[in-house]
Amino acid sequence: MHETGLSGKVVIVTGGASGIGLATARRFAQEGCRVASWDVKAGETQPGGIFQHVDVTSTASVEGAVRDVAERLGAARVLVNNAGILRDGQLVKYKDGALAGVMSDEQFDSVVSVNLKGVFTCARAVVPGMIAGGGGVILNASSVVGLYGNFGQTNYVATKAGVIGMTKVWARELGKYGVRVNAVAPGFIATEMVRQMPEKILESMVGHTPMGRLGKPEDVANAYAWLASEQASFITGTVLSVDGGVVTGT
Ligand code: NAI
Repeated sequence: MHETGLSGKVVIVTGGASGIGLATARRFAQEGCRVASWDVKAGETQPGGIFQHVDVTSTASVEGAVRDVAERLGAARVLVNNAGILRDGQLVKYKDGALAGVMSDEQFDSVVSVNLKGVFTCARAVVPGMIAGGGGVILNASSVVGLYGNFGQTNYVATKAGVIGMTKVWARELGKYGVRVNAVAPGFIATEMVRQMPEKILESMVGHTPMGRLGKPEDVANAYAWLASEQASFITGTVLSVDGGVVTGT
């Protein structure tokens, strides 16, 4: 068994106040990492780490926070781009044969701004420090729906598929600097985001999951920790599904 190599590493987790991000911040703290949790809402500080109010849609907020992390903890060697939002709606919705609504510009732009541009902004701010330090790991939150599509999620699916594209580009661009870049595609994980969904949809999600249950935030956190570790030292440009085997159409 190889060492994880994670102890003492500085890790940034975006969207670290709740759900998968919180479980991930705790998981890296257990590995002996110094974790900077970023969120727009209040969250917990991990032992030896810091919590910062950071909006990933703001370049100034992100770049200021990266400088702050470097001063207080040291340069980040791992970035988990986990922050994400949903603003679901159909492209066009008909009721009784008449057009009843469309996905608004605001719905589309707000999701792109957090889930896609936020990932870009954070990576751009953190990568120079990784290169200066001899390498690093970027992990991006995609989703099973980024692979298969999903009803009512034009905006969200576009971002989750886009994240896979950026992951592959950065793996190509940054490999020579020792920076690995991978995406994780969670299936249906029991967080607030999923619990808000109607009971009927939750049942159908479990029905589509061969493992017969929703995932736990820790299931995804474990995947991030492993991908960030030395045990995954030759893995880059890939998408790891953490989904209990979910497949469409079953
Ligand atoms: P969540 O809603 O529990 O946590 C997301 C966190 O991101 C929240 O704390 C929120 O305040 C934060 N956030 C939102 N906008 C932000 C911004 N502009 N700047 C900084 N932080 C911001 O969601 P959950 O379920 O933990 O999801 C985490 C990630 O995993 C998301 O990217 C989501 O799309 C992805 N995912 C989740 C799945 C699930 O089943 N829960 C399935 C597949 C992917």
